[in-house]
Amino acid sequence: MESAQDWHSAKALLEWYIELGAVDAIGDEPVDRYALEPTPPKPVKVSPDSPAPATPTKQPAAPQADYVALAKQAAAAAGDLEALRNAIAAFEGCELKRGARNTVIADGNPGARVMIIGEAPGRDEDIAGKPFVGRAGQLLDKMFAAIGLGRDAPLSKDAIYITNVMPWRPPNNRDPSADEIAMMAPFLERHVQLVAPDLLVLMGNTPCQTVLGRKGILRMRGNWDQGWGKPVMPMTHPAYLLRNPVAKREAWADLLSIRAKLRDLE
Ligand code: URA
Repeated sequence: MESAQDWHSAKALLEWYIELGAVDAIGDEPVDRYALEPTPPKPVKVSPDSPAPATPTKQPAAPQADYVALAKQAAAAAGDLEALRNAIAAFEGCELKRGARNTVIADGNPGARVMIIGEAPGRDEDIAGKPFVGRAGQLLDKMFAAIGLGRDAPLSKDAIYITNVMPWRPPNNRDPSADEIAMMAPFLERHVQLVAPDLLVLMGNTPCQTVLGRKGILRMRGNWDQGWGKPVMPMTHPAYLLRNPVAKREAWADLLSIRAKLRDLE
């Protein structure tokens, strides 16, 4: 098909659609649905013998499933990490699942002393099926390597384990809603129980809201707290550090504090 657009603007437009979450091309020709004639309602034939139309009666609303309760049940029933993965993948309460390519659960060593909790997969993670693999993830790996920890480390003492509050990518990387967080929090809490790390690192506001019940990461970062029975260190998200490189100095202080805490807890 001939296009009025040049190659570069067509490519930029396509990337924008992908960024918005479009995954399929459904027709060769675009359809401007706003320009279509509205379809008139079908005429109803009325004969003199027809019974009078029934007065519409109000239908009782279909009962809504209590997905938070279902999530709590499913999470509590998961006896190990494999069962938890299956329970998350089978959970149908969260609309984000329908727009995601992959359910992104975790990466790293499940025996790690440090469990890192991010927000939600972005585009790269949605494609790869693993958390923190894009630019922010590469920075996260460098940050923890600087204190001798890595996701591929075979020994628990040198390892990190990484997950997110949400296992599915929100469209256009928007923040997860309070309802979405409430539905997935029971799975995350069970995840923390099963991994049983020595401490948690919360990357940004969404995991702070989920684990500590409050946000304000720029005030909270660097201060040890207690959540879900673990020492908790809130840190600014690596994506924030990419946009605000001067904040890396504070992040370095937080990493040193994590290293010191691991020594204290030995
Ligand atoms: N940001 C997150 O919070 N998690 C990811 O997995 C990737 C980017």
